[in-house]
Amino acid sequence: MKKIAVVYHSGHGHTETIARHVVDGVQSVPDMAAVLLRAENLTANPETLAEFDGLIWGSPTYLGGVSGVFKSFMDTTGKMWRKQQLRNKLASGFTVSSLPAGDKQSTLLSLFVFSMQHGMIWVGNPVLPEQHNGVPYEQAANRLGSWSGLMAQAGHAALADAFAPGDIKAAKMYGRNFSLTLNRLHAEETIS
Ligand SMILES: Cc1cc2nc3c(=O)[nH]c(=O)nc-3n(C[C@H](O)[C@H](O)[C@H](O)COP(=O)(O)O)c2cc1C
Repeated sequence: MKKIAVVYHSGHGHTETIARHVVDGVQSVPDMAAVLLRAENLTANPETLAEFDGLIWGSPTYLGGVSGVFKSFMDTTGKMWRKQQLRNKLASGFTVSSLPAGDKQSTLLSLFVFSMQHGMIWVGNPVLPEQHNGVPYEQAANRLGSWSGLMAQAGHAALADAFAPGDIKAAKMYGRNFSLTLNRLHAEETIS
């Protein structure tokens, strides 16, 4: 059984909704067990992350970057960086914002650079936006066109679970792809 943690912060529940669907996607692949961990609960003991095979980061986009709570968590991993305790683990990231663009790319880049500093292996979001195959925009997975990580959009002041169906579908596909990538990585290890 491979262990994956989805580490997230969510001020008003939107990022948490996407995180739950990512977990569903991760666990749609046999022998993958995923847990949801709130970033603010890890700051006292981030070393617990070393027990996982893969880590998926999730933060809302606040003012064009990760939220302050998520950044505080990131900074507590400094001691782990010195020992490279997360080296060669799989990593990926997702973000939610209220505007169609909203500078979400900047948030994903922060999560990417954070993962690279820890020596991790980044997994993107290799999904062709389904509107290109005629799926209606709201229903289309990766309708927002993000390959470096997962993006989702919650309308301004929307309920925590009020996402376009395409964003929910994309979250599940993204989680599933992460698990399949982890399987491929371990398959290569057993060959050599
Ligand atoms: C302090 C703050 C800053 C925000 N900055 C942005 C932003 O830069 N771009 C954007 O599109 N939305 C922005 N938003 C909206 C949030 O990204 C959006 O409401 C998101 O769904 C929040 O997710 P959460 O409920 O998980 O916290 C901001 C919200 C807050 C509270």
